[in-house]
Amino acid sequence: MNRRTFHLVLSGAFAGSVLRAASGKHYDATWDSIRTHTVPDWYSDAKLGIFIHWGLYSVPAWAPPSGELGKVDQNKWFYQNPYAEWYLNSLRLKDSPTYKHHIETYGAKFDYYDFATIFNKDTQQWKPSEWAKLFHGTGARYVVLTSKHHDGFRLWPSQVPNPKRPSDSITAKRDLVGELTAAVRAEGLKMGLYYSGGLDWTFEPKPIASEQDMRSTAPQTEEYTRYADAHWRELTERYQPAVMWNDITYPKLGKLTEIFSKYYNRVPDGVIDDRFGVDFSDFTTPEYSHYDKITPKKWESCRGLGFSFGYNRVEGPKEVIASDKLIALLIDIVSKNGNLLLNIGPKPDGSISDIQLDRLHALGRWLRVNGEGIFGSRPWVRDSAKSAEGIDIRFTKKGDSLYAFLLSQPDQVVTIPSLQAKSGTTVSLLGTPAAVQWSQNQGNLVISVRRPSGEYAWTLRITPAPESA
Ligand code: GLC
Repeated sequence: MNRRTFHLVLSGAFAGSVLRAASGKHYDATWDSIRTHTVPDWYSDAKLGIFIHWGLYSVPAWAPPSGELGKVDQNKWFYQNPYAEWYLNSLRLKDSPTYKHHIETYGAKFDYYDFATIFNKDTQQWKPSEWAKLFHGTGARYVVLTSKHHDGFRLWPSQVPNPKRPSDSITAKRDLVGELTAAVRAEGLKMGLYYSGGLDWTFEPKPIASEQDMRSTAPQTEEYTRYADAHWRELTERYQPAVMWNDITYPKLGKLTEIFSKYYNRVPDGVIDDRFGVDFSDFTTPEYSHYDKITPKKWESCRGLGFSFGYNRVEGPKEVIASDKLIALLIDIVSKNGNLLLNIGPKPDGSISDIQLDRLHALGRWLRVNGEGIFGSRPWVRDSAKSAEGIDIRFTKKGDSLYAFLLSQPDQVVTIPSLQAKSGTTVSLLGTPAAVQWSQNQGNLVISVRRPSGEYAWTLRITPAPESA
């Protein structure tokens, strides 16, 4: 060993021990050790993340807008799949609306992977710092980017060769993962990575037409297992993602105890989702759905702004969630211990459609006034109530205050049932300077609000937090 290597080895060992000392913990490659990981505060505090689906499917950017997941007949889902990021699968289902669209628009000979040339050319124009500033402005505290979706296209210069296709046909020219990671961190946000471990259509080209196909087409070969394992290791080493967001499941032979322990040793305050198909996760991931009561295990609901994750050029106001509904959704999720991972689907050149931008700006405006009761909060003993006047209310708690979010505009008074204020209580409406008047009417708290200005939802801060009767 020469002096330089000796020095490197030493400093590596030193850095490792500093890391361990900082987190006070070392993880072994056993489930017992991995299970000792606890959800870090940053993730419980964050409440809002931005999910990004970006890849070859962003070029055609097309899917039939058949409805939201959960509201479309399961038997028809795959033929009329509203998820534009499933374009390749929908195209492989002959006579599906996507198949017809593709033939009409690009012709029968145009192969899906030929979109790579357009994608790689268009992404040259992308400015990662503009995205990072935009996300920061929405109030989001973290970002999760699709590093590889089901089509197998990789958004980073992976050194892992794909045994089925030439690497350059399935690899982005720019290091989109690395550049976004740097830009997002420069804005003070955390950066996480999505990876489709369960499905990879470069290994298994058979189209999926049913739930059953979804299970049977998840590649389980040693070859694919090695490939996926190497990817997660590579992503961990290169980018130290704050979130390991795996999708669908993972090959059964995968070396997950080794991958997870390495990850936690490298990123002690990282979090792992529940889609590896094993009995361990930091959080659960309901999709286009969420829990209807306070759920102690940390959870994160994800959805697209419309019916799709990847950009779908046919989506408009009929499909895209309205701003008031979006803000009510965020509040509702937070009151029940969840985060909202809200997805945007950018175009290949990095631009974002006006309707998606409009929703992000609405979120940002509302959170600048009301974020105090959202970020860093925890569920209170009750998640919700209805005022005597019929207004839907959600609660959170932070420090010594209770926050009551009114989901529609109050008029004169709001009577919150079963709420006993302590003497000396101060009630304020966020965004207005003066304290508001309150009184107690037999176990109910009566607050005078006088038609406040503001939009989407109104937040009352009640300090100290009262007892729930
Ligand atoms: C699903 C879909 C997918 C989307 C994801 C987001 O599993 O297959 O297209 O990326 O969930 O939650």
